[in-house]
This record gives sequence, structure tokens and C-alpha cells, in this order.
Amino acid sequence: MKSRVGSHGSLEEGKDTGGARVVTQYKPLPLRLLQFLLLFLGLGIVFSFVSMYMVRYSVVQNVIPMVQSRFQPCIQQLSLESWIRPPSNLLHSMNDSQLFWRASIVPQIKDYPFNRTRKIAFMFLTRGPLPLAPLWERFLKGNDELFSIYIHSLPSYIPDFPPSSVFHGRQIPSKVAEWGRMSMCDAERRLLANALLDISNEWFVLLSEACIPLHNFKAVYHYISRSRYSFMGAVDEPGPYGRGRYNTNMTPEVNLTEWRKGSQWFEVNRKLAVDIVKDEVYYPKFEQFCRPACYVDEHYFPTMLTIESPRLLANRTLTWVDWSRGGAHPATFGKADITDQFFKKISDSPLCIYNNQPTSLCFLFARKFAPSALDPLLEHSAKFLGF
Ligand SMILES: *[C@@H]1O[C@H](CO)[C@@H](O)[C@H](O)[C@H]1NC(C)=O
Ligand SMILES: *[C@@H]1O[C@H](CO)[C@@H](O)[C@H](O)[C@H]1NC(C)=O
Ligand SMILES: *[C@@H]1O[C@H](CO)[C@@H](O)[C@H](O)[C@H]1NC(C)=O
Ligand SMILES: *[C@@H]1O[C@H](CO)[C@@H](O)[C@H](O)[C@H]1NC(C)=O
Repeated sequence: MKSRVGSHGSLEEGKDTGGARVVTQYKPLPLRLLQFLLLFLGLGIVFSFVSMYMVRYSVVQNVIPMVQSRFQPCIQQLSLESWIRPPSNLLHSMNDSQLFWRASIVPQIKDYPFNRTRKIAFMFLTRGPLPLAPLWERFLKGNDELFSIYIHSLPSYIPDFPPSSVFHGRQIPSKVAEWGRMSMCDAERRLLANALLDISNEWFVLLSEACIPLHNFKAVYHYISRSRYSFMGAVDEPGPYGRGRYNTNMTPEVNLTEWRKGSQWFEVNRKLAVDIVKDEVYYPKFEQFCRPACYVDEHYFPTMLTIESPRLLANRTLTWVDWSRGGAHPATFGKADITDQFFKKISDSPLCIYNNQPTSLCFLFARKFAPSALDPLLEHSAKFLGF
């Protein structure tokens, strides 16, 4: 049988002696088979280790895309929300050119495809602290949906408003601003540009740390939101402090007939805010040819807007100030001034025009108030200010 297998080959075997073949083949093969099996086993182990390693490696590779995709929807699935949500942090790394460019982007379709709450941006141009903050907090209380706050202060100033305050975290990246210089207008444009980044802001009020509101929030919001005009003081004043400050080098961009003067404390709508931020035509002229004794913050915006959008201007300011004491600075009011007569004097000012009609309600804000005025103002705010 051994010889048969050897001589005839295995194919023959199966045919005639099927059962015997099984028996006879078992004997010579085990060792070889075992070797093969061991070889396969060895290969199998090697393979399984290699594949385990590969699986682990590929799992790691797969995990990264999974982790990434979990964070990506904010970027990949653009929603309207992501465009209209105001920046959560007012600090940013844009310089003025970048900021003004970004802020001057305007939607070209008039109707908003969402319910837009129109807010007033209160922009505080300050050196540092806001001593009258408690009065403003009281004024703003309960109207969180209808306003936002922006503060430009000296870059060295470190604010310390508690987290509960509406002023907390509302400082914008600031630079030193000098009265009567272009750096002051730069600061105002910086405030406007930062406030424009929130699409909900519709009106922009420039205030100082010495300003107070003269009426409650509802009255202020009503007055501003119903006005057909923006409130920018702009008068054609003859004499050395008005037309006398005009420099003929400003032609043809600015002619004497459009030269205007006004206090810097303005209230403008979104359209005019963009006009101011995007300006590249008038800025170089004012920067070069309106230097002290031409005080650029009294002329640049009033003149520029008179040329660009005269029909949108009320040509008066909403901020009351007392120049009656004379001199280079308006009067400052302290503790002793906060009386019935004082507020009667403000409300008895001459009539003004509101939406083309005469009115006795001409001012919504007033300056200048010293920190010592805070306590009596808080004590009598209901009586004098209506809140
Ligand atoms: C802002 O940064 C850009 C890019 O670095 C530069 O070209 C531009 O001059 C900068 N603008 C200002 C006002 O610094
Ligand atoms: C806006 O609000 C009004 C009423 O509050 C509602 O009828 C309308 O569907 C809202 N529109 C959008 C786009 O959410
Ligand atoms: C200023 O006057 C010149 C010459 O009359 C005219 O061409 C130019 O348009 C005027 N500029 C403005 C802003 O009206
Ligand atoms: C403001 O002044 C401009 C011209 O300087 C004029 O066109 C505009 O009608 C004035 N606004 C109002 C409300 O009278």
C-alpha cells in the first residue's frame, strides 16, 4: 500500500480504495501537516497583531475626523443665526482699517428675514471710570432687549464693573483720544464701528462720563425711534469760531457753504453711522486742514453729513449743555445744583422742531455732571427724571 501510494500518486488512490486511503495517508502526513498548521498559526498570530495595530491606528485616524466633525457644524452648516448673532466678546484683534471695513458691510435687501429688535447703542467716550453708572443702571433696568453699551476709555484704564453690571465687559479696544484732535474723531468712529458689528443696533448715541439721561427709557426710546431725522448739531456759524475755521485747501471735497459746526454729542441712525465709518473722502481733508484752532470734532461729522445726507439731519443735538457761564468749557453741575429750579430751567428751553413740528421736548440727555451729583440724582430720579 505504501508502494502504491508512492508509485501511482494520490489521484489514483481515492478511486479504488477510498476507505484505506484515509488510514494510509494519516500516517505519513501529521508532521508535515503540523508544520504547515504551525506555520499558518504563526502567520495568523503575526497577522492578527499587525491587524490589531492597524485597527488601532485607523481608529485613531477615524476618531480625529469624528471629533472635528462634532465641532464643525458651526462653521460648515451656516445658519442665519451665525450671521446675526452679536459678538459675545467685544475684544477683538482687528486694527481700525480692518474694523471699519468690516463694520461698513451693509445688507442690500431692505427687509430683514427675521424679527429684528431695534436697539439703541449707548456709546460712552470716557477717560476711565463712569461715576454716574448707578444712575444709568437704573435708567436701563428692565430694557435689556432694547439697548447695548460700548465704552471707549484710555487704553491704560482697567475697568472694574461687577459681572452683574450692564457695563461689565463692554469696553472696546481703545486708543488715546485728545480733545479737538483727529484722535477724538477716531475714537468716535471706533465706537460706531464696534456698535455696528451688532446688526440689532439701529441708533447710536454718543455720551460722556458726565452725561445723564433726562427722561425714562420708554420716553427716550420713543423719541429716538419715531424721529425721521438724526440728531447731529450742525449750524452754519459766521465769525472766527465758525466759518473762520474753514481752510480753502479743503476744496473741492468741502466748500465753505457746507462748512458746519456742532457739538460732538450726537445721535445718528445706522445709515449715518455707516457713512461716518466708511468715509475716505473727507477724512484726509479734515485730518490735514482742520487742526487747532480748528477743533475737528466740532466740524468733521456735521460738515461731512451735511454734504452726504442733509435730508436726514435734524441739525440739532439731543444733549443739553450750559455755555452761559462763558469760557472754553461748559458749566459742570454738582451736588448743590440738583434742584427743582435746575430741571425746570432745562425743560423750559426754547421750542425746537421734532418731525417738522414745534415741541418743547428738545433734550433727552444733559451734561456736565460731577460725581458729587450722583447721590441727589439717585435720590430724586423719580421726580426729576421720571425713573
Ligand atoms: C491694519 O493691518 C493691515 C494688515 O496688517 C495693514 O495693512 C493696515 O495698514 C493696518 N491699519 C492700521 C490703521 O494700522
Ligand atoms: C415675526 O414676528 C411676528 C409676530 O410676532 C410673526 O408673525 C412672524 O412670523 C415673525 N417672523 C419671523 C421671520 O420670525
Ligand atoms: C465745491 O465747489 C466746486 C466748484 O463750485 C464744485 O465742483 C464741488 O462739487 C463743490 N463741492 C461740494 C461738496 O459741493
Ligand atoms: C438740516 O440742514 C440741511 C442743510 O444743511 C437741510 O437740508 C435740512 O433740511 C435740515 N434739516 C431739517 C430737519 O430742517
